[in-house]
Amino acid sequence: MSLRAIVLAAGQGTRMQSEMPKVLYEVAGRPLVSWVVDAVSELSPDEIVVVVGHGAEMVRQVLPEGVTVVAQSEQLGTGHAVMVALEAIGDVSGDTVLVVPGDTPLFLSGSLSALLDEHAKGASATLLTAVMPDPTGYGRVIRYGDRVVQIVEERDVDEEQRRITEVAVSTYAFDGGALAGALADVEADNNQAEYYLTDVIETLAAPGTVRAVAAADPLEVQGVNSQDQLAAVAAQMRRRINGDWMRAGVWMQDPERTYVDAGVALEAGVRLYADTQLAGGTKVVAGAEVGPHVFAVDSTIGAGARVWYAVLREAEVGEDAQVGPFASLRPGTVMAPGSKVGTFVETKQARIGSGSKVPHLSYMGDVTIGEDTNVGAGSITCNYDGREKYDTVIGDRVFIGSDTMLVAPVEIGNDAYTGAGSTITKDVAPGSLAVERSQQKEIRGYAAKRKKRPRKGG
Ligand code: UD1
Ligand code: CA
Repeated sequence: MSLRAIVLAAGQGTRMQSEMPKVLYEVAGRPLVSWVVDAVSELSPDEIVVVVGHGAEMVRQVLPEGVTVVAQSEQLGTGHAVMVALEAIGDVSGDTVLVVPGDTPLFLSGSLSALLDEHAKGASATLLTAVMPDPTGYGRVIRYGDRVVQIVEERDVDEEQRRITEVAVSTYAFDGGALAGALADVEADNNQAEYYLTDVIETLAAPGTVRAVAAADPLEVQGVNSQDQLAAVAAQMRRRINGDWMRAGVWMQDPERTYVDAGVALEAGVRLYADTQLAGGTKVVAGAEVGPHVFAVDSTIGAGARVWYAVLREAEVGEDAQVGPFASLRPGTVMAPGSKVGTFVETKQARIGSGSKVPHLSYMGDVTIGEDTNVGAGSITCNYDGREKYDTVIGDRVFIGSDTMLVAPVEIGNDAYTGAGSTITKDVAPGSLAVERSQQKEIRGYAAKRKKRPRKGG
């Protein structure tokens, strides 16, 4: 006997009112369908079949190797999707077939294994259920005494059924042979003209046994059908992820306002202030303080670093380095230990040596800065001539005067100085002072003379 898992991911998600395939919407930085495939993988099934349709090519791209992808070219309903999957799998008699929806990212594999355990007691079908305070939109579980006899879709419920709060969540374990037989009898005779997978339950309940098992937590089976449900599910995922990190020793000023993507790595002793978003493969090392108001994607923040009010993309912040407030670190920024990028500073492809500081109002792009150098306020690397980008090299212990324009390509030697307001177009030798600006003139008594002049139009 083998276990085949079918993930239903072909639907358009009409209620999202968007062109994007629903299962590609992200929660904590991962597509809905990826969360589901992960939860299913934990059960080590013999085969995972993902049914794709709407946006098939895009959906295919996020799926891991090793899953079977099957196209449902017309989305004729969940029953039809399973039929299409079974055609691809072949004979399933004697197998257990697990069916899960691709729009339910909060699934814990624990509930899926509980479903399989219950099913193993002997049943033609076993469904996962949940009691929802507001069951609107879900298929209702109809019981006769203890026995499950039918699932009635929201669109087809009568007044009495509408009040039932026990719902089906598109998650089932089937006896393969029984499923194939029952699907052959499903008709699209409902008000959606769709083949409903839920209809097989009535067929299987009559001669056989249909079991039901409740999800450990109704929150984990919440599906995403609309933008507000997506936000609700994302909030729940956030609570789960942040709870795990806090139990692992991460301090959060306000976990409801801290956003940590699934691929982020944190260490015990990290401190996260409110409105921090850590995305992609961002890594934060113990002792770093991040936030408030930091957005970091695919970046690394070292031990003891302090980053606040900043945007970091593919940037490396070294140990004890300081960033912000109001800094933008673009890709290729590498800050050595103890360096600083301060207020209203933008960096790109910038290596900033240890102990070096760019404290205020600067743009440092395509630049290598040595150690213990200070870049004065308002200084800019003019790295672009309208056609191409050029590099700037600044040595160790350099003093770049305020408002220096470094017209690249240009190199400033170790221990050199530039005068405030200079436009530096030529290399500066080590230890030199380069000044480029006109002599200051002074006109004595100017104010008094000006007062004596008659006013125009007076
Ligand atoms: C379905 C169930 C309902 C259950 C609810 C929540 C049916 C008829 N209804 O309704 O009982 O309470 O889920 O779990 O099964 N899909 C396909 N191909 C299709 C249609 C849908 O692959 O032709 C996929 C969708 O991408 C989605 C999943 O099946 O991942 C469920 O479809 P959806 O349209 O969300 O069904 P619901 O109306 O929520
Ligand atoms: Ca759904």
